[in-house]
Amino acid sequence: MSINKKFLNLFSRVTEKAAIGAFKFIGKKDKIAADKGAVDPMRRELNKINMEGTVVIGEGEMDEAPMLYIGEKLGTLNGPKFDIAVDPLEGTKFTANGEPNAFSVLAISEQGGLLSAPDTYMEKIVIGSNLPKNLMDIDNGVEKNIKLLAEAKSKKITELKACVLKRPRHDHIVKVLKKMEVKINYITDGDIAGALSVIGDKPVNDIYYSTGGAPEGVVVAAALSCYGGQIQGRLVLNSEEKVRAKKLGIKDFNKKYNIEDMVKGDVIFCATGVTNGDLARGVKDLGNEYEVNTFILHKSQNIIKSVTNIYNK
Ligand code: FBP
Repeated sequence: MSINKKFLNLFSRVTEKAAIGAFKFIGKKDKIAADKGAVDPMRRELNKINMEGTVVIGEGEMDEAPMLYIGEKLGTLNGPKFDIAVDPLEGTKFTANGEPNAFSVLAISEQGGLLSAPDTYMEKIVIGSNLPKNLMDIDNGVEKNIKLLAEAKSKKITELKACVLKRPRHDHIVKVLKKMEVKINYITDGDIAGALSVIGDKPVNDIYYSTGGAPEGVVVAAALSCYGGQIQGRLVLNSEEKVRAKKLGIKDFNKKYNIEDMVKGDVIFCATGVTNGDLARGVKDLGNEYEVNTFILHKSQNIIKSVTNIYNK
């Protein structure tokens, strides 16, 4: 089964409206208002679609308005059953500070196609396409993974570029990368864009190696399932988070998730830029209209495209 391609425009409209909602808060130093600016139109647009949608990746795990929470039902409830992963505003800080790489993103699968992960951290390793399957393993450690990657890419280790989210919790990763003389490209936030920097015709990085949000991990897996590329993730759970994970059906807390463990079947992925970024250009205010740019993937249709649309104010 696949998702009818008529849904492509409907879902891209959702992230486009959410991006316009967040655009109004660029540089206003208010992360929460910017997030709400995206959440409200996202929910409104999703509720117009003839579908029975369920949020499986959201911003919270219960009814905590204004967030789109896990379990929330969306759509007219008259149509196909979909799993929905949302990140209405990826890069709340970027938006609040007027920095690049903020966007609104969602991924859709048929019912049961996306892992429902709690809003916790996930260790992640992400690499591009055309590499041996399951090349990386979190338990290998950084040094072995880097050696395997260099060998598979027929590159010198010193030619490899790694993207790392700048956090003290990654000091041990950075230490090894530096010792091996791998070039490090740091990001300060936004690990969906960081993870996806390993794909494309001219990938900026060879590997993304960090711990970021688990919801972001599933969204990345959805994109990679359309685009090629690999991710391995493992949830990082304290005792309270284990209780939450259990409620979502997660039994093995140490499980290493590859793409096929997080994403099954057809997928639509849409990311609309709020500020200019690597995936999509930011919203442009044209006076009476907004111009928006969306990166769209549809697995079953082999669609990979960037679309520009105009909305009246
Ligand atoms: P938000 O925009 O939703 O705040 O997320 C930004 C982000 O950088 C994610 O991309 C990343 O997965 C997570 O935060 C990292 O979390 P932390 O800032 O706690 O290290």
